[in-house]
Amino acid sequence: MSQSYEKSQLLHSRAIKSLVGGVNSPVRSFKRVGGKPLLAEKAAGAFLWDVDGNRYVDFVMSYGPHLFGHSPEPIKMALKKVCEGSPCYGMTSEGEIEWAELLLKRLPGAEKVRALSTGTEACMTAIRLARGITGRDLVVKFSGHYHGHVDSLMVDAGSGIATLSSEAAPDSKGLPRALVDLARVAEFNNLESVAQIFAKDGNSIACVILEPVMGNMGVVAPDPAFLRGLREICTRHGALLIFDEVMTGLRVHSRSAQGRYGITPDLTCLGKIVGGGLPLSALAGPAKFMDQLAPLGGVYQAGTLSGNPVSIAAGLAMLKWIDQEDPYARLEEVGQRLERAFLEAASRRKREISVSRVGSMISVYFRKDPVRNANDCRAVDEAAFNRYFHGMLEAGCLLPPSPFEAYFLASVHADLSKDDLEGRIEKAFSVFG
Ligand SMILES: Cc1ncc(COP(=O)(O)O)c(C=O)c1O
Repeated sequence: MSQSYEKSQLLHSRAIKSLVGGVNSPVRSFKRVGGKPLLAEKAAGAFLWDVDGNRYVDFVMSYGPHLFGHSPEPIKMALKKVCEGSPCYGMTSEGEIEWAELLLKRLPGAEKVRALSTGTEACMTAIRLARGITGRDLVVKFSGHYHGHVDSLMVDAGSGIATLSSEAAPDSKGLPRALVDLARVAEFNNLESVAQIFAKDGNSIACVILEPVMGNMGVVAPDPAFLRGLREICTRHGALLIFDEVMTGLRVHSRSAQGRYGITPDLTCLGKIVGGGLPLSALAGPAKFMDQLAPLGGVYQAGTLSGNPVSIAAGLAMLKWIDQEDPYARLEEVGQRLERAFLEAASRRKREISVSRVGSMISVYFRKDPVRNANDCRAVDEAAFNRYFHGMLEAGCLLPPSPFEAYFLASVHADLSKDDLEGRIEKAFSVFG
């Protein structure tokens, strides 16, 4: 029986009159998968309810901040308490210090942190800092990697070959050509593409920035040798290695991707989990680099709401909870269970898929071969994905509305019954006959 989406549709018709495209972030519009977007009413644990009362197992988890599930009690309690006072002071408060100390404990190569509000800001500041430290302008990024809507990072030459040219194509209107020209785009898991860029421009490169586990074209695991090679190239050329761990930070390992793969970057960008679901992000690194930021150094960065007590309370509650619960074994277990469920359901329907997973980040690609880079991710059967996406909705599973987004698991997914996890996935794949 088909679910009703009547109220979502009515609200969406109203939303498009006052919100651009009816949304405040483009992916939410369902443009890629077709149909009208759902509107959320409430969420708890592993479930989300839309405004029509349909209940979904939520694999979006707000794109990453919820490590333990929706409506998390310790964070709600911390927020209730902090909301008795002023939401912001414009002065430093003790919570910021405690939050920084707990975070730094999990980043062995870092000694200092700056709190900001969004992942975009953290990445923007990281490359400004790298440019300030090195006195160089060029930035190397990877095809398909997203670092927020920072002007000079919104370029993605789109194919491994084009990546080697300096003719990077902008991903948006409104990007000054002068900034686009400062980006060099390499291919993920292809050290040679990076070596060639350094061979040509090595003396002008300020930094290499990457998602150490690619998550913004869906999940793609790194070759450990690739990460080691990047570390070596950056050190040799005096360029900074920046890990954008906005998505992977405190998710793929208790010490983030850098802990999982044993590579120490020069700077780390964090977001999502470190804010416990509120706007809070971080830039961290050794004191010799971080002290180049204002007020100690000449690289300017500031924020009216940076480190506000409300976001800090949520982030701090999250960090303490992680210390207490150590959820990573449980996340790995439920990740394996979900991976198996997808593979078995697809195999029963004779549908070729490739499941890509690193811990609690997972993607299903409608292609046979595993993915190693953005080009592989783009070579999927999008029509099949769209049928599957709508099949999943009908079966009561909420996915990100795009074939190029990671699904996020929370530890509460491990408590789902067989009916709610394997059963719903099995039902969804019946769209393939
Ligand atoms: C790896 C990565 N970097 C940066 C960002 C930007 O973060 P925000 O949306 O908080 O600005 C994102 C957002 O999803 C991300 O996944």
